[in-house]
Amino acid sequence: SKGEYRHYMLKEIFEQPKVIEAALEGRLSASSVLVESFGPEAQALFQKARQVHIIACGTSYHAGLVARYWLERYAGVPVQVEVASEYRYRHPVVPEGTLFVTLSQSGETADTLAALRFAKTLNYVGSLAICNVPGSSLVRESDMSLMTRAGPEIGVASTKAFTTQLIALMLLTLSVSKAKGQPAQPEIIGALQALPALCQQVLGLDRQIEVLSQAFAEKHHALFLGRGAHYPIALEGALKLKEISYIHAEAYPAGELKHGPLALVDSEMPVISVAPNDDLLEKLKSNLQEVRARGGQLFVFADQKVGINSQDDIHVLELPNVHEALAPLLYTLPLQLLSYHVAVLKGTDVDQPRNLAKSVTVE
Ligand code: F6R
Repeated sequence: SKGEYRHYMLKEIFEQPKVIEAALEGRLSASSVLVESFGPEAQALFQKARQVHIIACGTSYHAGLVARYWLERYAGVPVQVEVASEYRYRHPVVPEGTLFVTLSQSGETADTLAALRFAKTLNYVGSLAICNVPGSSLVRESDMSLMTRAGPEIGVASTKAFTTQLIALMLLTLSVSKAKGQPAQPEIIGALQALPALCQQVLGLDRQIEVLSQAFAEKHHALFLGRGAHYPIALEGALKLKEISYIHAEAYPAGELKHGPLALVDSEMPVISVAPNDDLLEKLKSNLQEVRARGGQLFVFADQKVGINSQDDIHVLELPNVHEALAPLLYTLPLQLLSYHVAVLKGTDVDQPRNLAKSVTVE
């Protein structure tokens, strides 16, 4: 049941500290990931993996895009990420030693399942399903699986399923990294353990985000910006907003602004950006200046140390400091809350958006 919450989506957003903890439970040692979490064959398969292909749809695809940044940076393994509906009708070239990974909340998404069946006819070293539903078709038909343990997700807009997929993908990154003999990342393990409490802290911004959401209720468009692993987080923020509030939203890597989308920016175009304290921060800040110079209204979720202050045309909400690797997880939360509150203000059916189904079992 929804309990004290007005919608399942809000309940599921607030469950994230708990389900992130569940997704980590029994899968970490003091300084590394227990590779056996992926099953008995995982160690051997990860050692063989010279590259990774990740296939998914929608929000799950966005999780895959984040994982590309992680796997290349921390495991040194080249990664391709693609939506299942494209992949399954291409003629993909599969280099020797490629691991096939699917991501799916339901494990029944028709295109993702078809992509797995197609991949089995190609020369992959093996397949891994990261999934929220034990016993689903995707899990049954894959060589290995890792459950995301988000619990049932009722709201059509995926929230906790996404963040727990990110946890699973960080576990995958660290496991592949270890199998490939890369240096251990004990500080990421520590940061993972601290993450549920940090998420709880960010959920405390709910009331402030609700106030902020008023600026969007009358708008017809919104632009989301991010850089690096936060570009997919911007994509996810835009998807959430369009799905449940029906506001047209687009996401761009901030560095692409001047290659086109800057032409759209005026006072009627709110621009939402996530600004964690990473090595792309200075670049992002100058992109934000480009928006301000065009009269755009900026809404920035920023690390407390970033030092961007609220002014007439820029609204800043501060997030606690987090290990750079895990920032994409933390910065997802305020974007979920923002789209939730905008949808509530607009009076849309938050849990059952028009034209959408929770599980897309037909092509
Ligand atoms: C968006 C959303 C969809 C799903 C997509 C894939 O909020 O929920 O984009 O992510 O339909 O579904 P799964 O993960 O079940 O394969």
